[in-house]
Amino acid sequence: MLSLSQVSKSFALKDGPYTAVDNVSLEVKTGAIHGIIGASGAGKSTLLRLINLLERPDRGTVTVDGKLLTELPDKELRQQRQRIGMIFQQFNL
Ligand SMILES: Nc1ncnc2c1ncn2[C@@H]1O[C@H](COP(=O)(O)OP(=O)(O)OP(=O)(O)O)[C@@H](O)[C@H]1O
Ligand SMILES: [Mg+2]
Repeated sequence: MLSLSQVSKSFALKDGPYTAVDNVSLEVKTGAIHGIIGASGAGKSTLLRLINLLERPDRGTVTVDGKLLTELPDKELRQQRQRIGMIFQQFNL
């Protein structure tokens, strides 16, 4: 259902690049429920945002329900995102 392969994401900080997600690979089977745990700043929210490509990975691929999201053009990506639910950590809106 969900597959990440060697996904990495860095942010450009003033002291240089900061790697928030470093070479993560995982699989979630249909119907399975998983939790992501880690200290504050470990990269949990960034990892979730990489799954629906609100953050674009620097490296690696994201596949959801057979669609290689990291290769989709923007219009198709928007369509696929309509099928992926997410509750934001700071849901100000
Ligand atoms: N857009 C961004 N620009 C720069 N740094 C960022 C950005 N987003 C996240 N970071 C940094 O990446 C790291 C991981 O952040 P993230 O929000 O994914 O952590 P988290 O595990 O969800 O933390 P928390 O438990 O506090 O919610 C942190 O050091 C954070 O400051
Ligand atoms: Mg978070």
